[in-house]
Amino acid sequence: MYRIVFTQVLSRFDAEAVHHLTIRALRLLGLLPFVTRRLHRLLAPREESLRVTAFGVHFPGPFGLAAGFDKDARCVAPLAAFGFGHVEVGTITAHAQPGNPRPRLFRLPESRAVINRMGFNNAGAAEAARRLRRPRGVPAVVGVNIGKTKVVPESEAVDDYVTSARLLAPLADYLVVNVSSPNTPGLRDLQAVDRLRPLLAAVKEAAGRTPLLVKIAPDLADEDVDAVAELAADLGLAGIIATNTTISREGVASTEAGGLSGRPLKARSLEVLRRLHRKAGDRLTLVSVGGVEDVDDVWERLLAGATLVQGYTGLIYEGPLWPSRINRALARRLRRHGHTSIREVVGRTA
Ligand SMILES: Cc1cc2nc3c(=O)[nH]c(=O)nc-3n(C[C@H](O)[C@H](O)[C@H](O)COP(=O)(O)O)c2cc1C
Repeated sequence: MYRIVFTQVLSRFDAEAVHHLTIRALRLLGLLPFVTRRLHRLLAPREESLRVTAFGVHFPGPFGLAAGFDKDARCVAPLAAFGFGHVEVGTITAHAQPGNPRPRLFRLPESRAVINRMGFNNAGAAEAARRLRRPRGVPAVVGVNIGKTKVVPESEAVDDYVTSARLLAPLADYLVVNVSSPNTPGLRDLQAVDRLRPLLAAVKEAAGRTPLLVKIAPDLADEDVDAVAELAADLGLAGIIATNTTISREGVASTEAGGLSGRPLKARSLEVLRRLHRKAGDRLTLVSVGGVEDVDDVWERLLAGATLVQGYTGLIYEGPLWPSRINRALARRLRRHGHTSIREVVGRTA
């Protein structure tokens, strides 16, 4: 049904316009607590077997929504009600900023992919904090993803992240330092270990007891993936989220600037996960994201060592019932394989 709506209607409109409309519709839903609660009862994961605890946080299911969809934490409750086991909001920057000029979001339906160069458009950390303080009506696990304000010089990047961390960590179940978006000039250079160490150390201190993760790019060289894993473990971080979008255009026809997500990212994302698991799987929680389309992909990531799995582009092509379909199929698959919990699967074939 959604596929027909997508090809016949949604795909004819500007991708970002559809996104804003979707956010608006979800916000409206959020204003109707009775409906949100009912949706939550129908669609949120409730099987005992799907529950998973990672870095001390209890997740109702391992599959969550990746950062970038709900940048300003406007519709956390409805997203949780549709079945996402966690919602990662952001990227949020210390200061509000408009992002790059439009158009900046492009669908590549034949590749089941998207290219975006949004550039961290968001209303800033204070506004997000205000929204996150509001009661939600349904239970939701919320990750907060923070990034650098574009106009802040790189020499002041640490303070900029720390400002966001202080405001937002107390309101988050986990905090993520995003140093991997291709759309903020110079941002990915912060992944170099000598620059990353002081940044992560300062944000970790500002985050207090909130678990801290770092989100990395798929374009890092393998040795750099290893180095970041070593650093994260050394600093006592909770985990790593891998991966963000890629600047590679392998396998797609478009040459639009920005980050590529969806199916073409699948293989590299899985490869990075396997590497991280070998290097630091015993010390860090691994969150896998990139090209996840269905339960087979989620299953594969769990086997490869991910405790949590996320998706974004799949939601664009599969529609709002996507997370609940995955949850149901995952519970069935666990049963079929004789498992009673996600934990029994994590890392089994790594
Ligand atoms: C339109 C769009 C905006 C995104 N914005 C962010 C962002 O603000 N911060 C971030 O860490 N990742 C962002 N991402 C990356 C996703 O969180 C995810 O890492 C990436 O898309 C790979 O997952 P997917 O293939 O399931 O989409 C964005 C992705 C898309 C498609």
